[in-house]
Order: sequence, then C-alpha cells, then structure tokens
Amino acid sequence: MLVAPSVLSADFGNLQRDVEAICNAGCDLVHVDVMDGHFVPNLTIGPVVVSAIAKCATKPLDIHLMVENNTFFVELFAPLKPEYISFHVEEEKHPHRLIQKIRSLGIKPAIVLNPHTPPESIEFLLADLDMVLLMSVNPGFGGQSFIESVIPKAKRLASMRDTINPNCLIEVDGGVSDTNVALLKEAGVDIVVAGSYVFNHASKAEAIKSLQI
Ligand code: DX5
Ligand code: ZN
Repeated sequence: MLVAPSVLSADFGNLQRDVEAICNAGCDLVHVDVMDGHFVPNLTIGPVVVSAIAKCATKPLDIHLMVENNTFFVELFAPLKPEYISFHVEEEKHPHRLIQKIRSLGIKPAIVLNPHTPPESIEFLLADLDMVLLMSVNPGFGGQSFIESVIPKAKRLASMRDTINPNCLIEVDGGVSDTNVALLKEAGVDIVVAGSYVFNHASKAEAIKSLQI
C-alpha cells in the first residue's frame, strides 16, 4: 500500500517543516487538496501555496481538485509538474477531453468519485486513466469518519480495473487509519490518503509505516 499524507492537516504556519517531515518520514506521495469554496463548502490553497509545497516536497505531488472550473486549475498547476492531477467526475461535462489534456501536459490523469457515484459511471474512461480516487468521506474537510460503503465499491472497481486497465491504480481518501487500511488492501486499493491520522500521530514515520502494509 502506498501512502499519500494530506497536507490539509499540516500546520500551515509551519508548512515547509511539515511537508519536509512527511517526506523524510517515508511517504510515497504528497496529497494536496485544492478547494474553491464552490464545488465544496471550504476554501483551501491556490498556486502560490501549492508552488511553495512543490518546492520543498521531495516526493511527487498528488493534486486533488475539488473545484468547479477544472480546466482552469489544471492549467494553473501543470507547470509544477505534479505526478497526478485528479478531478471530480461529478463536476466535469467533458471528462474524457480533460483526461486527454492532463496527459498531454505530461501529468498522470485521475478521476475522483464522491461517495454516491457508482464505479460503473466511469467504465468507459477507465482505459485512459492512471488512477481512480474513491472518496470515503464527503469532500471538503479533514478529520471526518470513514464511510464503510467504499469497501464494496472498491471491490467492484478493482474487478473492472483488472479487466479493463490493470495499470490503473485505486486510491481512497478520507478517514483512513490503521483500523481500516487492511480492509482497503483486501478490496484491491493501492494508495491511501491520510490527513489527520498521520498529522495527529506522535510519530509521522510510525503512522505512515502502519499504513504501508
Ligand atoms: C477531504 C480531503 C482529504 C482529507 C483527508 O475533502 O480530500 O484529503 O484531507 O483527511 P482525513 O484523513 O483526516 O480524513
Ligand atoms: Zn483529498
């Protein structure tokens, strides 16, 4: 299991210290939550802060867009050369076109599904994706509790993935800790995002290690 700590739970007064800490603690990716106050009822960070994160991160960035105007934000963040940019399928009229655009910019395209969105809704996009991110909370805030229905959903998605595009990774985001990571692994999940679990733990290295099963 790969681990992508969510910077949303970092101390923003000590952002460089915290980004360096998770990278030194052995994380695999740095998860960056971009919220615009429209798609979700919260507002986080824009290009100034994300480029500051990119400068001090020694692990690849995993940018999770929770915004209305996906194309605008993709163009904004492309120069930072993140590993992944993921966007919500619920907020995109032309997801296939945007996948192609992200790939043409040299970035791995990923799609995010809210808790209510069935995996079958992206069946015909799967072949062109590098990752699918399943929300296990409603997007907008860190520290919420894990929605259990993501487990059967991940299983369904994993079996679709195995036939359509075995190279496509499955990521789960929200309420992840050492209490549910084994179930996620068993369901076929490859990457977990963890915000509050990693940042509230006495040892970030231990927290990350406990998820790398
Ligand atoms: C929620 C974000 C998550 C969140 C995870 O909208 O996408 O990445 O920060 O935080 P925890 O692990 O605390 O649920
Ligand atoms: Zn996220």
